[in-house]
Amino acid sequence: MTDWEDRWQKNETPWDKGYGAPPLTECLDLGMEELLGARQVLVPGCGSGHDVRELASRGIGATGLDLSPTAVTRARAMPKIGHEDYLCGSLFEADWRIGREFDTVWEHTCFCAIDPALRVAYARAMAEILPPGGHLVGLFFLTPWDPGEKEEGPPFAVSREEVEALFAPHFELRKDRVPERAYPGREGREWLTVFKRRN
Ligand SMILES: C[S@@+](CC[C@H](N)C(=O)[O-])C[C@H]1O[C@@H](n2cnc3c(N)ncnc32)[C@H](O)[C@@H]1O
Repeated sequence: MTDWEDRWQKNETPWDKGYGAPPLTECLDLGMEELLGARQVLVPGCGSGHDVRELASRGIGATGLDLSPTAVTRARAMPKIGHEDYLCGSLFEADWRIGREFDTVWEHTCFCAIDPALRVAYARAMAEILPPGGHLVGLFFLTPWDPGEKEEGPPFAVSREEVEALFAPHFELRKDRVPERAYPGREGREWLTVFKRRN
């Protein structure tokens, strides 16, 4: 199992590109209502918070969550852009969300990082975090290896069919497409989805 805190402490963070995910910027530039109209977006596995700050830069309230105290410390040390904050905790636990409400989740490189055996639990956690009608906007990495990375993971690959089947008990797939923008090397290998929490 990956020791994420150890990876952050040793600066072994090849996934951290220093800026927000290009497909997220694309969604915002194209006016995606599920993000721009959100009251509070949760970013699970936010790392040093680039996507959180990208959301905040558009006036969207955003909360980053990460298991690693070092990642959260780095995220908090970045200049504040808008209404963003960061929490340290596991998405599989409920303690960090007591007294907090989220109507939207932005998923990017957290799902592919967790042990595939925990994917059903991940989908259940998202269903607990989001109210009926809430949106899970997910960027799923289908063949998630950046140049030079080993294929045994993490990150772990997933198929569109598996993503649909995992979320189907709790969410309806409303939109999907392959984003045009990507980090270099990830072009055409990501799948953008908008899931709506069922009543
Ligand atoms: C591959 S990194 C991606 C970070 C960030 N999304 C990015 O792209 O720069 C995965 C992140 O998920 C965090 N993580 C792993 N398991 C988690 C969990 N159960 N709850 C919250 N965060 C978790 C790790 O600490 C790590 O920062």
